[in-house]
Amino acid sequence: MMISQKMNAKLSDQVAAEFYASHKYLAMSCAFDRMGLRILAQRFLKQADEERGHALKIVGFLRDVGGAVTLEAVDKPRADYGSVEEVVQAALDSELDITRRINELVTQAEGEKDYATRSFLQWFVDEQVEEVSTMTDLLNLVQLAGPNVLQVEAALRHQMLAAKD
Ligand code: FEO
Repeated sequence: MMISQKMNAKLSDQVAAEFYASHKYLAMSCAFDRMGLRILAQRFLKQADEERGHALKIVGFLRDVGGAVTLEAVDKPRADYGSVEEVVQAALDSELDITRRINELVTQAEGEKDYATRSFLQWFVDEQVEEVSTMTDLLNLVQLAGPNVLQVEAALRHQMLAAKD
């Protein structure tokens, strides 16, 4: 095995954290569906898929370095959101938590002079910058729109159409 037992255990914990993030985004998507906000629901469903992809990326790395993959139970995600802002704030908090975890993994890899894991983790460092930024922008948009949540849906629809061009 190319990595330490400790690094292996910490990466397995991150697999669980990414699956939990995916589960949270799926619950948030369902909450938006219940509010009748289809675009937000779609956006968060896509994010749930991305988080699952992050978990699988780590599983793939563990395989490549001869590590052991141990899957944990995924906690039940929160579902009782009272407003769009509450959901988006919870998503931002979750991204900040994931960022903190990734930074701890980087610290561990550097401390062990484990440069293979350090190099692998750079993708996640960059991804978190993007995800925290995107969620912060969405929270700002939601706060600007106030009670006019349909304006948020309209702005997101516009962004999605622009991205397709
Ligand atoms: Fe996989 Fe959004 O952190």
